[in-house]
Amino acid sequence: MVAISRIQEVRSEVDRLPGAAQSAEDLMMHMAKLLNQKMLKYNWVGFYLLEENPGASPGVLVLGPFVGAMTPHTRIPLNQGICGAAASTGKTVVVDDVQSDARYLACSLETKSEIVVPVFVRGKVVGELDIDSHFQAAFGSEDRLLVEHCAQLLGQYLEKHDA
Ligand code: SME
Repeated sequence: MVAISRIQEVRSEVDRLPGAAQSAEDLMMHMAKLLNQKMLKYNWVGFYLLEENPGASPGVLVLGPFVGAMTPHTRIPLNQGICGAAASTGKTVVVDDVQSDARYLACSLETKSEIVVPVFVRGKVVGELDIDSHFQAAFGSEDRLLVEHCAQLLGQYLEKHDA
């Protein structure tokens, strides 16, 4: 129950961010910081933004604002990684044990579980929110709802302001 009230508290804090943000970049940075600081198992929190290549090749996910250690994966093709899976299917991916998922692209040796939630603008995937944890199975159903809510807030902001 403690965890759920913590999640509700963080959700109301997150709800205040879009109104105060100067730009989408600013909103992403504040959201990543808040989630990393308040949710103790969210050890790496970052955004990837979809860069669409006109022509034959599929798009690439480009690292945006993030909090945590630098990752070697700054550009992820849509057909690679858990990140690519979430963006190409438009569905949230939760992996309880990254070592047992063949799609996983390692970012840090400490990472044990991961959640990736697509961000939509007018029904199209434009990016995603990626969170890694040092704990196995860190993302339960309440976490999933919180992270999906964050991704939705960013999508709504982009729809209104940038895209
Ligand atoms: N683990 C991700 C790559 C990004 S890093 O976690 C920051 C993946 O498998 O797509």
